[in-house]
Amino acid sequence: MKIIIAAMSRNRVIGKDNSIPWIIPEDLKYFKKVTSNSSIVMGRRTFESIGKSLPDRENIVLTKQAELHFKDIIIAPSLQDAFELATNKRIFIIGGASVYKEALPLVNKMYLTFIDHYFEGDTFFPYFDKNKWDMSIKKEVKKDAKHQYAYMFSVFTRKKVIRCKNQLKERTADKLNTGNGIELFV
Ligand SMILES: NC(=O)c1ccc[n+]([C@@H]2O[C@H](COP(=O)([O-])OP(=O)(O)OC[C@H]3O[C@@H](n4cnc5c(N)ncnc54)[C@H](OP(=O)(O)O)[C@@H]3O)[C@@H](O)[C@H]2O)c1
Repeated sequence: MKIIIAAMSRNRVIGKDNSIPWIIPEDLKYFKKVTSNSSIVMGRRTFESIGKSLPDRENIVLTKQAELHFKDIIIAPSLQDAFELATNKRIFIIGGASVYKEALPLVNKMYLTFIDHYFEGDTFFPYFDKNKWDMSIKKEVKKDAKHQYAYMFSVFTRKKVIRCKNQLKERTADKLNTGNGIELFV
């Protein structure tokens, strides 16, 4: 199963100067809990911002630079290669923006943290059609003395599309003639 995990601000910012412009320890703990014992796939810049492989996870880094090698990291030249190299059933796409954009049509689940604040940034989460997803809220935290920002952990699951081959035929058959020349669908 391929899953996106990301944290974004109200204005969709996910990064600035190859770093994340907020520190929310609970979100880091949540990220660790959700992604542990899985494969994680990230872009080369995201890996550089983290600076090391993340423990208890199979780390896969996307890069076109074939000569790159990092300790405890599997290098993949494409997203498809990353999916084939991953040895865990659960494969998390952990960013950055270009990788999220490419992976969005391929995933059925997203763990999204929304931070209720506007941040300056240079990297953004891609737009997606919310009507095509069911959203459930896992946790909401209010801003208070302990929490610098309000935030929400949510899970988006892609809605299933039910295709009905004879839909048009059935609709036509349902037409009613009201007798005064007006046709209604029921
Ligand atoms: N808030 C969050 O949840 C979150 C999560 C992750 C990252 N971030 C932030 O996002 C920013 C980094 O994101 P970014 O979009 O600038 O960079 P990125 O996606 O992390 O890395 C881009 C690089 O990854 C490689 N790459 C991407 N797609 C590839 C593909 N399909 N095949 C092969 N290689 C591919 C390329 O490396 P080469 O140039 O080496 O070929 C590309 O230049 C940072 O600010 C980071 O802190 C935020």
